[in-house]
Amino acid sequence: MRHFLTLKDFSKEEILEMIALAQKIKAQTKQRKFVPYMGHQTLGMIFEKSSTRTRVSFETGIYQLGGVGLFLSSNDIQLGRGELMKDTARVISRMVDMVMIRTFEHSKLEEFAKYSKVPVINGLTDSYHPVQLMTDYLTMIECGKDKDPVVAYVGDGNNMTHSWLMLSAKLGFELRIATPKGYECDASIVEEALAIAKESGATITFGNDPIEAVKGCDVVTTDTWVSMGQEDEKEIRMKAFEGYIVDETLMSHAKDDAIFLHCLPAYRGYEVSEETFEKHADVIFSEAENRLHAQKGIMVWLDAKRNEELEIRN
Ligand code: CP
Ligand code: NVA
Repeated sequence: MRHFLTLKDFSKEEILEMIALAQKIKAQTKQRKFVPYMGHQTLGMIFEKSSTRTRVSFETGIYQLGGVGLFLSSNDIQLGRGELMKDTARVISRMVDMVMIRTFEHSKLEEFAKYSKVPVINGLTDSYHPVQLMTDYLTMIECGKDKDPVVAYVGDGNNMTHSWLMLSAKLGFELRIATPKGYECDASIVEEALAIAKESGATITFGNDPIEAVKGCDVVTTDTWVSMGQEDEKEIRMKAFEGYIVDETLMSHAKDDAIFLHCLPAYRGYEVSEETFEKHADVIFSEAENRLHAQKGIMVWLDAKRNEELEIRN
């Protein structure tokens, strides 16, 4: 059974298939045509961290596909009182048809998937945020930035950066990453991404100079300097990231028609200036909306794979 835990588990063709499905379903949704691709199905949504976009987009998405979403905050279910992830998986996956999880350690998500009877989707872990990257790529296509793009990521080497690494490595486009010293990407994830990039021909570079990264690029992106779970490090991080703000001075080094992407929530005056954010607000909020569409593509694709497998077994 296929899960959606990281982009490294998918071929380029599969990633593009899910995106194409998302585009098709988005067009239908825009025409107010709600096709029940997942009629009567239930999506369990387990949240161990806060969320605005992930919750609203998955819950609305499954409803528009003819199913229903169950919001399960770890504060409310027994998981928050110490019930094991593997037991939670074995219970919930006998009752629902698909599960989305937002949690801390990536290994907790893997543990759930290992014991799950139904497909599991990563709604963000400390290591990866792959549904966001599917969304960002859909947005790049809509902005005409998918033909051999050069993407610059400026900021923290975190779950978003790791997912950019995997997207670039799989699809074969150039990615330049600029992080402060001490806040680089996880070395083992970098190693895996570079091995995949070798096959796809993607160029991936790492450095500490935002201007060098952004020079002549088509897409500039960043993320918060303080991810969920890092609140205690806020003060020290604010100092470490000085000089890494994406503002109009930095954007002037990118192509004139470069777009700026942000997964949100955004913290103005820190990773992005108010001016740059508002200048690119149309694209940023289309990107936010695309969470709904990209994830419908992912859910319908996973469901189709599961059905194929059940047919083969019968
Ligand atoms: N970008 C994103 O995942 O937003 P939320 O944390 O609000 O879900
Ligand atoms: N890196 C951020 C992404 C939020 C969507 C975090 O993990 O908090």
